[in-house]
Amino acid sequence: MAFSSILVTGGCGFIGANFVRLLLERGYNNVVVLDKLTYAGRLENLAGMGVPIVVGDIGNLELVRHIVEMNGIDLIVNFAAETHVDQSILNPFVFTETNVRGTHVLLEVAREKKIRFHHISTDEVYGTIEGDHHSLETDILAPRSPYSASKAAADLLVQSYFVTYGLQTTITRGSNNVGAYQFLEKVVPLFATNAMLDLPLPVYGDGLQMRDYTHVSDHCTGILAVLEKGSIGEIYNVGAGQEITNMAMLEVLLETLNKPRSLIRHVTDRAGHDRRYSVSVKKLEALGWKAQYAPKEAVAAAAKWYLENPTYWQPVRESSSFQAYYNRQYAKRLETV
Ligand code: NAD
Ligand code: DAU
Repeated sequence: MAFSSILVTGGCGFIGANFVRLLLERGYNNVVVLDKLTYAGRLENLAGMGVPIVVGDIGNLELVRHIVEMNGIDLIVNFAAETHVDQSILNPFVFTETNVRGTHVLLEVAREKKIRFHHISTDEVYGTIEGDHHSLETDILAPRSPYSASKAAADLLVQSYFVTYGLQTTITRGSNNVGAYQFLEKVVPLFATNAMLDLPLPVYGDGLQMRDYTHVSDHCTGILAVLEKGSIGEIYNVGAGQEITNMAMLEVLLETLNKPRSLIRHVTDRAGHDRRYSVSVKKLEALGWKAQYAPKEAVAAAAKWYLENPTYWQPVRESSSFQAYYNRQYAKRLETV
């Protein structure tokens, strides 16, 4: 085993929970989760896994230090973040607090304890991609939303700890993930559950924006490949390596769920909406990793999971907090079409 005791922050969220499950499958049995359980974190995502979960904030330095000391942690994998672009437009401050300051606190503890630090970043740090370019890890950062700006800031902090203190760091920049346990605010689970409820699907603008929809299992195996075989101080993109339009994603969803196109509504666009993300994954593939799902297959598999797991998502849809968010984000948009 490459690591003896792993702290996974944000392990009760979508990708973190899938990653913890992968670690256990691969025989990494000493795993501790630190999660604040924000609206996006759910204990159900790790139900039955037997993993110790500390409920707390990555910005609490004493708590993080205590967890690392008490568990002999030799690797921190940082998934904890505020993650939704639309939420960052509505309420940006918490994004700098968690994504920048919280990451900084984790880096400080990693430096103090001289342990490996892996940071989960995003392809959104490259900004909107023109022409047929595929972002390389060496490309300049050009984030355009409060979310992506906070993630880019964190990436720079991580790199600074590698250069300045020689901290053993790696970064992965994942593209748009889909699959089991994703919170309903994100487009695929939102549209899948709306469709099952025969509610309209609010497509921002013309729906021709392009995303590299990646199955979460591919993202998780990519992260593990970097942990086990990646070079210290390096950054690796993770994605299917091909992108489709949101309209194409939508067609797959409707077909999988056997729902009509009449549910589609084009609504007011997202402010500053990035038109296209596209990453080159050649550097990660050189470690022997390969994505198993093309974007359309990943979207179909995700839609199927929500179809088969209504008891997972129905309580969230019915919660007053989700309904308040949904109304704030969509009521006006849907009433004007
Ligand atoms: P998510 O929103 O589903 O989960 C985030 C988790 O972090 C939640 O469990 C939440 O409770 C926890 N959290 C938030 N603030 C915290 C804090 N201050 N202290 C401790 N825990 C806190 O997110 P996700 O989609 O699973 O994303 C995980 C990571 O992957 C993020 O860093 C995100 O930027 C990155 N990422 C996401 C995607 C994607 O498509 N979802 C793609 C690329 C990268
Ligand atoms: O690319 C990686 C990023 O993918 C991650 O860093 C983020 O954490 C994750 O949320 C995701 O960001 P996106 O903005 O791409 O995901 P989202 O699901 O919000 O939107 C995907 C696309 O669908 C985007 O072009 C906006 C569009 N969309 C989204 C919503 C919620 C709609 O058309 N209507 C919607 O209601």
